Amino acid sequence: MKKIAILISGNGTNMTALLNASKRGELDADVAIVISDKPGAPGLVNARRMGCETLVAPYASGLSREENERAIVEAIVERDVDWIVLAGFMRILSSSFVSKFRGRIVNVHPSMLPAFPGARAIKDAFEAGADYAGVTIHIVDEFVDHGPIIAQEEVAILPGDTEETLESRVHAVEHRLYPKALQELINEDI
Ligand code: GAR
Repeated sequence: MKKIAILISGNGTNMTALLNASKRGELDADVAIVISDKPGAPGLVNARRMGCETLVAPYASGLSREENERAIVEAIVERDVDWIVLAGFMRILSSSFVSKFRGRIVNVHPSMLPAFPGARAIKDAFEAGADYAGVTIHIVDEFVDHGPIIAQEEVAILPGDTEETLESRVHAVEHRLYPKALQELINEDI
């Protein structure tokens, strides 16, 4: 069975969706470790409750990206992980991290990339008066929220939507699309 590491920074609702899909047998992967750069990430509590090994790898100011990533790289290499799955991990990865695991890092982003990259994609789409937000699952390259697209789905912005109602529909699509797209990658990974 393929091994995955899930990287989070916050609530970890996508992580939970992946763990649930794995438990239900819809995602043929073993979650070897959940890693957070934020000690207080609410998702860590849920990961532990669901029986996952967790690692907190806090970033220190004044250190380079590579230095801050060292503990993460070690944990991934030690466990011989096949796929690195970013699930709301709000750090830019160093180019040496990306090249070390090239083609093996996957990300979920709440927009129809290349539209609205960055940390506030839903807010940006809402405030721009766009017709739709969306969800993109992609392989990670050296650029932010960029790389070959695996799956994409539009989420219409409806009259009467608030940022919150839009966000909850985007999350619902993420939770359905991410496990499915990851399973497709695993199916092709022989
Ligand atoms: C998700 O909406 C994800 O797409 C987004 O962070 C949220 C994390 O939620 N990621 C990005 O914006 C990456 N640029 P979660 O912690 O509840 O899964």
